Amino acid sequence: MVYVTRRETFSSAHRLYNPAFSDEENDRIFGKCNNPNGHGHNYILEVVVAGDVNPETGYVIDLKVLKKIIKEHVIKKIDHKHLNLDVEFMKDLIPTAENIAISIWKVLVDKIPYGKLYSVKVYETENNYAEYKGE
Ligand code: NI
Repeated sequence: MVYVTRRETFSSAHRLYNPAFSDEENDRIFGKCNNPNGHGHNYILEVVVAGDVNPETGYVIDLKVLKKIIKEHVIKKIDHKHLNLDVEFMKDLIPTAENIAISIWKVLVDKIPYGKLYSVKVYETENNYAEYKGE
């Protein structure tokens, strides 16, 4: 089994808050991430596909193919968007790195033509990321 990774970047705005909480609770839990008009991040996305190497091509999956799938189904829909307002697949979720990773996993899992989706990693900052492996 070999693991291949495609890295992409996107820039999005978000606001972390839970409408079920009071303003005080939202402030306490989310701090400055609860800024009412949102704030932005330059995210890094890493998508890992696992599989056997096809002896005829030497690939698990052609990374150009993986790049195209990620661009079409994820990047086009979230880059330069507000995650709370503009992105159908993030609807009604608190757009933390955790929930972004889970949402992207769900978008991609049945669209990988070779190998199997192994993990989706979303870096919100250089030091903070969330990784989802489907369970
Ligand atoms: Ni943030």
